[in-house]
Amino acid sequence: MVSPVCRGSTVLFPRAAAATDLWNQHDVGYTYGLYGTPTTLELAARMCELEKGYRTLITPSGQAAISLIHLALLDGGGHVLLPESIYAPNRKLANDLLRRFGVEVSYYPPEAGAGITASFRGNTRLVWCESPGSITMEVEDVPAIAEVAHRHGALVVTDNTWSAGVYFDAFRHGADVTVQALTKYVGGHSDLLLGSVTARDRAVFERLGEAHSVLGYAASPDDSSLALRGLKTMAVRLKASEQSALALAEWLSQRSEIERVLHPALPSCPGHELFKRDFTGSTGLFSIVFREAYTREQVQGFVDELELFEIGYSWGGVASLALAYDLHSPKRPAYGCRLVRLYVGLESIEDLKADVEQALGKMNT
Ligand SMILES: Cc1ncc(COP(=O)(O)O)c(C=O)c1O
Repeated sequence: MVSPVCRGSTVLFPRAAAATDLWNQHDVGYTYGLYGTPTTLELAARMCELEKGYRTLITPSGQAAISLIHLALLDGGGHVLLPESIYAPNRKLANDLLRRFGVEVSYYPPEAGAGITASFRGNTRLVWCESPGSITMEVEDVPAIAEVAHRHGALVVTDNTWSAGVYFDAFRHGADVTVQALTKYVGGHSDLLLGSVTARDRAVFERLGEAHSVLGYAASPDDSSLALRGLKTMAVRLKASEQSALALAEWLSQRSEIERVLHPALPSCPGHELFKRDFTGSTGLFSIVFREAYTREQVQGFVDELELFEIGYSWGGVASLALAYDLHSPKRPAYGCRLVRLYVGLESIEDLKADVEQALGKMNT
């Protein structure tokens, strides 16, 4: 029923001729802990089933999964395209580190769809999608982007963390690689950091696996065991989070303080039509934008007044979270300092609504 935790240890071989340190342990058996122990390999297999891919690699964090993809699939002189809405540390990695190694980095509007053609260069090798964007919630037309990318000989990678790989079938929509921060919904209890990278086919998996084996990205077997346990309850946790988030988002959209609720399942959200077409459900993360009259201090005051919602970055656990953002980029919707991202966890929806209501009430006084 429950897989044992196999920590990294010296792997012993029966004969001198049997000793090998090949990384591809799916084919050659357990050779070296750095490439995954039986526990992490089981998590990889479960994630691969969930994402419906060819094979999966487990990494020490979601950000490590992101860096693995960049480092495995790009060379100096190549070009990578990312949406303006991409997870900020991914953007920082591309701008600060990849450029140092001679990779060209540029950005496209997440609403581009087939219009992304204009952003392609002769040397474009990799296109990232993150759908929906994890702060501003734009849904991308991944099939249209993938069609253009493949025509230009580029690979497409999708950050599938928001949907937990459950509500968006990245490979059926044209992705070549999908990445998830297992830190979020798969872990589900805010007590681990892990990432996964799943490849559509053997050729891409081998490029990823070669890089993984030399980068030293050993994932913790203890954390992998927790993630395996998290997977057992993820479906019910996600459903509960989805229902409460939807109820709260709909209620918030009626409030006079709120200009806009950015929840992909609500028609007001950019990309809602694509969401209806491509997703089979929603999860617990969405954002609200306060009316222009509200100042940064008032918006931050709202977050401070929340009692059930804690203030924190990560999401996907039991506790609800809130975070105020400052978004002033001219290339993103100019929500300024009026956007608050909410993660709706597993508390009772009545308690959550009451908490938001009392915090909103204090803003007006
Ligand atoms: C969309 C998205 N991708 C990747 C990550 C990175 O995950 P980790 O915190 O495990 O490095 C995050 C974390 O916030 C995220 O929000």
